[in-house]
Amino acid sequence: MKDQKTISGFSKLSKRGKIKWIAKNFFTDPEAVKNELVSYWHNNEDQQKILDGFSENTISNYPMPYGVAPNFVINNKPFCVPMVIEESSVVAAASSAAKFWMSRGGFKTKILNTKKVGQVHFKWNGDKEKLIALFPEIKPKLVQAAKSLTKNMEERGGGIDEIELIDFTDKEPNYYQLKVLFETCDSMGANFINSILEQFALTLKNYCLKHPSFSGSEKEVQIIMSILSNYTPECVVRAMVECPVDDLGKFPNGMTSEEFAQKFETAINIAHIDPYRATTHNKGIFNGIDSVVIATGNDFRAIEACGHTYAAKDGSYKSLSHCKVEDDVFKFWLDIPLAIGTVGGLTSLHPIAKRSLELLGSPNAEELMGIIAATGLAQNFAAVRSLITVGIQQGHMKMHLLNILNHLQATELEIKSAVDFFNNKVISFSSVRDFIKKKRANPTKMATE
Ligand code: MEV
Repeated sequence: MKDQKTISGFSKLSKRGKIKWIAKNFFTDPEAVKNELVSYWHNNEDQQKILDGFSENTISNYPMPYGVAPNFVINNKPFCVPMVIEESSVVAAASSAAKFWMSRGGFKTKILNTKKVGQVHFKWNGDKEKLIALFPEIKPKLVQAAKSLTKNMEERGGGIDEIELIDFTDKEPNYYQLKVLFETCDSMGANFINSILEQFALTLKNYCLKHPSFSGSEKEVQIIMSILSNYTPECVVRAMVECPVDDLGKFPNGMTSEEFAQKFETAINIAHIDPYRATTHNKGIFNGIDSVVIATGNDFRAIEACGHTYAAKDGSYKSLSHCKVEDDVFKFWLDIPLAIGTVGGLTSLHPIAKRSLELLGSPNAEELMGIIAATGLAQNFAAVRSLITVGIQQGHMKMHLLNILNHLQATELEIKSAVDFFNNKVISFSSVRDFIKKKRANPTKMATE
């Protein structure tokens, strides 16, 4: 029997054709689904074409909130940071931390290094000593053969930095690697790096086939794969804040600044000791980082993958941020690898990503690394501050209240009275639903009942 839920030639269908097919075969109300999906198409056809061009089999757009966190002072310059995120409280938390540090010197950032990494993985079944001895001769040939690919980047100040031959034969028979470091300036550089690596693989293979010291057999060298590594521990930025402990101010329930600093430092230490806490702690950092990475058209999967590997670089998964209270000074900082770009890729194609970069004053890649890291640090500060003072639910559920009210299709009047009513009460879906139910049954009763 033909399964209606599978199809061949789907990609050849028009957009409307694709929608029609999925609406008919996967939904109970095809007409409503069709209209809904079409309603998210961009009303400007050219803009929609650009969006469709990013991916395959596109049938509609998936809207996400685009917010901004004002009052970031980074290296003495004010910024209003664009954030794409669906989780309530994140933008509010970033804004609140930004404002807190604005009057305490703001965020400072420092680029520690900017190198990207690529690898050619191959098997060498010939004489190991000869390969190692000839490598100094192979290296310039690799660089020479890639000249047409590196020319433009070299003019911009980048290119190939280092090529290393690594012997992994103790882990996998005959397995070697060319590990290559690149400088890609303001671009993320994925296509640049991958093209060069594929050229390297070709050059290496040809060299080995033709060199008189080797057998000339195709079997002697086998290229396994050539690809950039998303782990870039040499493309790291530091974001930091600091102020005298006394200047931290007062906290809820009479908590003093000394008590706050001590509790905060302990909370960060816990995230260095325990991977369970470290994962949630770093997730909070990535709430900030990912939302700016997405807003500026960068690859958040690459940034996440790299960040988590970096968090485990010492052999166990740890906090990416650090805190020290020393000589009555509170210091809080984050070291994070961020292989991002401000030219090329989506950054210059996505209409809103372009606006995000404009909003940030058209930063170069190093400046954007600093802005993203500062947002991650702000997010982490706000989360830990809540956790060690009033708890996370107070702020979080206040924001979530609006989602629940929207879900219940509350009117403006109902929203207002619910916000007043739940100001000092525990919020849950059922408590809000019951409140609205009662209100609808007896609309004249006041919120303060
Ligand atoms: C929630 O998205 C993020 C937090 O859990 C981070 C943290 O616990 O540090 C609040």
